[in-house]
Amino acid sequence: MTAQRRSATPPTAYARWSRGQGIDIVPGFHIPDLRAVPLKPWARMGGYGCFINHEESDRSNDCYVCLIPPGEHLHPVRHLHELMIYVLSGRGSTTVWGPDGRPQSFEWQRGSLFAIPLNVRYQHFNSSGEAPATLLAVTNAPVAINLFDEPGFIFDCPYDFPSRFSGADGYFSGEGTLTGRLWETNFVPDVRDFPLVEYRERGAGGTNVQFKLARNTMMAHVSEFPVGTYKKAHRHSPGAHVVILSGTGYSLMWKEGEPITRYDWSEGSLVIPPGETFHQHFNTGASPARYLALRHLNARRDPATGLPMSSISTRLGGDQIDYADEDPMVRRTYRDECATNGITSRMEEFHGTP
Ligand SMILES: [Fe+2]
Repeated sequence: MTAQRRSATPPTAYARWSRGQGIDIVPGFHIPDLRAVPLKPWARMGGYGCFINHEESDRSNDCYVCLIPPGEHLHPVRHLHELMIYVLSGRGSTTVWGPDGRPQSFEWQRGSLFAIPLNVRYQHFNSSGEAPATLLAVTNAPVAINLFDEPGFIFDCPYDFPSRFSGADGYFSGEGTLTGRLWETNFVPDVRDFPLVEYRERGAGGTNVQFKLARNTMMAHVSEFPVGTYKKAHRHSPGAHVVILSGTGYSLMWKEGEPITRYDWSEGSLVIPPGETFHQHFNTGASPARYLALRHLNARRDPATGLPMSSISTRLGGDQIDYADEDPMVRRTYRDECATNGITSRMEEFHGTP
């Protein structure tokens, strides 16, 4: 008897589940405008939704956009996967129910960032009677759904996780603890103006703050880089969803030894660098460029220092390319691009820096 070879990899449990949600799944790693994705009625959530899937979404983390019409609300839901939400537009509130069934609510607006604690029941409300509210969510639902292959267990499990959320008042007050560049909190009122901390490792006057929300394993960070500068190229595992908060520019992406592709962005764009693909962000505008990254915790670290390999120079075996090691074309093209926009590149002053 001869074994039959499968002609294709069977879809994961997540892929089967997401295809059954009745909304579009937009594939790709560059969405020019998140406000223009095709939204369809989403029966499970209420409102209108659309998945955005990168090449590894069906087994790592995924993303969706969900719109709440003016004056309306979504269904109450809970789930055994983590969830981070960035408010793309509008304003509203969310009610969560603690282990004792007591509700508490908090308000959000465009620019807010928060996480729903694991398996807590919650419901979103649009508090405007005139404008829609649009939420961008990044989750690790693919991992949970693939593990159990039983959506009823993921979306209707009665277990509470009191160590993540006891129901205590003030959970979403926005209070937090800053350690170095790490801000541990559960709610950020507006990441667009959140004060950042110097981050020299990524180069060229950049600043950054990492966010750990609701004790999630998933992480977020905000980075900003000045006019006339670009960041160092690096690579890491898949699933970093980079939302452009302000500024204009472009990103270059390439796999080692393969051609470089350019993607232009502006406020409201989304870039999701594919796994193990070098990516490099360039500010070509007249104002600082700021972005929010929603991602997995970077798993690959240098055992000697504990630093992410994506922050260590390729000269030392890491995954970040120092300015001095990059293709000279990169800086020349950037200088020309800046000149076209009436901007002076500052990269000469950073070229020799580590
Ligand atoms: Fe990155």
